[in-house]
Amino acid sequence: MEMKEAPAISRSTPVEFTVGVVGAGYVGLVTGACLAYVGHRVVLADVSEERIVSLERGQLPIYEPGLENLMLDSADRIDFTTEIDWVAREADVLFIAVGTPPDENGSADLSNVAEVARAIGRALSGSYREQPLMVVNKSTVPAGSGDYVSMLVREGAEEAGNGAANFRVVSNPEFLREGSAVYDSLFPDRIVLGADCRSALDAMRALYKPIIEQSFPTDVDPRPKAAVPFITTDLTSSEMIKYAANAFLAVKISFINEIANISELVGADVNSVAAGIGLDERIGSRFLNAGIGWGGSCFPKDVMALMSIAEEYDYEAKILTAAVEVNTRQRRLVVSKLQHDLHTLKGKRIALLGLAFKPNTDDLREASSLQIARMLDSRGARVVGYDPVAGKAAARALPGLRVLHDPYEAVKGAHAVVLVTEWEEFRNLDLRCVASLMDEPRLLVDGRNFLDPRDVKGAGMIYRGFGRG
Ligand code: UDX
Repeated sequence: MEMKEAPAISRSTPVEFTVGVVGAGYVGLVTGACLAYVGHRVVLADVSEERIVSLERGQLPIYEPGLENLMLDSADRIDFTTEIDWVAREADVLFIAVGTPPDENGSADLSNVAEVARAIGRALSGSYREQPLMVVNKSTVPAGSGDYVSMLVREGAEEAGNGAANFRVVSNPEFLREGSAVYDSLFPDRIVLGADCRSALDAMRALYKPIIEQSFPTDVDPRPKAAVPFITTDLTSSEMIKYAANAFLAVKISFINEIANISELVGADVNSVAAGIGLDERIGSRFLNAGIGWGGSCFPKDVMALMSIAEEYDYEAKILTAAVEVNTRQRRLVVSKLQHDLHTLKGKRIALLGLAFKPNTDDLREASSLQIARMLDSRGARVVGYDPVAGKAAARALPGLRVLHDPYEAVKGAHAVVLVTEWEEFRNLDLRCVASLMDEPRLLVDGRNFLDPRDVKGAGMIYRGFGRG
């Protein structure tokens, strides 16, 4: 099916839907909160009773700026439950927003999705519905999974044995970034919808109408968008859009890291190079920050999953393979840079500033901090760390890592400091104080090219960035 932008629709009062969201994680919570905020009734379901109980008490299981306020604002339109069956029967639209972690081969593990799909089938069997339930795949799933989910819902209905289930499966990938997930959901660059029937697309367009038309109240001033493009296509292409978007961004970062490494060899400054190429509109200036490379819950998992999809068809995804290799090398480069100035790492105290995989999140999934800490630990270094929000979780994830509550405590007695995550608060670090607390040779490895090398050197430290001449 050819991809097209759906025609604009006239502004009118939006229809209120009952929206079920299964999976109260990052994607589910943000999707649910935003849909409630724009006027729908939302029921958030999760298998974890503990999670539901704390949500009912108003405690969020994740740190995401703006989410708490949004949930408070929409509290009268949000309910929580562990009863997925009930949600499947009551909802007009049901989002599957459960995890699809990589399995041992890097493929997306669909067992959570499958469980939910079967439960939906069992719940729908024998329940009369005038309109089919829209089962929306929000989780990132391999191309072709829409059909698989349909099959599982039907299987679930057969298991229950009370008759066929009335449903349609729709793909609606999310593009939200952790740390700005609420903003990305309310002001997205586009909404992508994949379905194999017109009525499903119409229902989803009606659901998203307040966001498409940007008609919800906001104190973001000026409103960043006049209207949001609503892109419709077939199920498989929609699923592929998600993988292609994440893979492209990951490749873009690995590309600039490759350029950074070459820049360093020839004595160029990658920040200038990035600024220079980014002004070409075909390239664009975002996602050209060189450094330790990409981590997080999406890029590593989705790139690996796309590679393994290609492999299933005996196709070697060479660009993706290279992007992963460059990314792994970037982490190793941190160790090389430390060794260059410290020589042996045995017994050296190394402080990691920032542990979350990126700023404004407490997420440590595929965080470079943990990988670097392990490499340093295996070379006999004493690794300490500090993070404004992810400290406790990091200490749990890596018992060998000593986590301190203050950046100055962390750098005390350190031979080297590695800035791993570019939290804004590190911009205001008193570098003279840092230098005075450190031990010789007072090395600072700036994993995100975040600090001004002149300031660091002026404070009495050795500065090593990535690709900065
Ligand atoms: C990403 C996508 O941006 C989002 O659209 C998708 O839905 C989920 O995956 P997220 O994982 O939250 O979002 O983080 P993002 O801000 O994209 O950063 C990903 C990684 O790339 C981080 O580790 C970040 O530090 C790194 N990065 C990003 C760079 O190294 N350089 C850059 O220029 C940009």
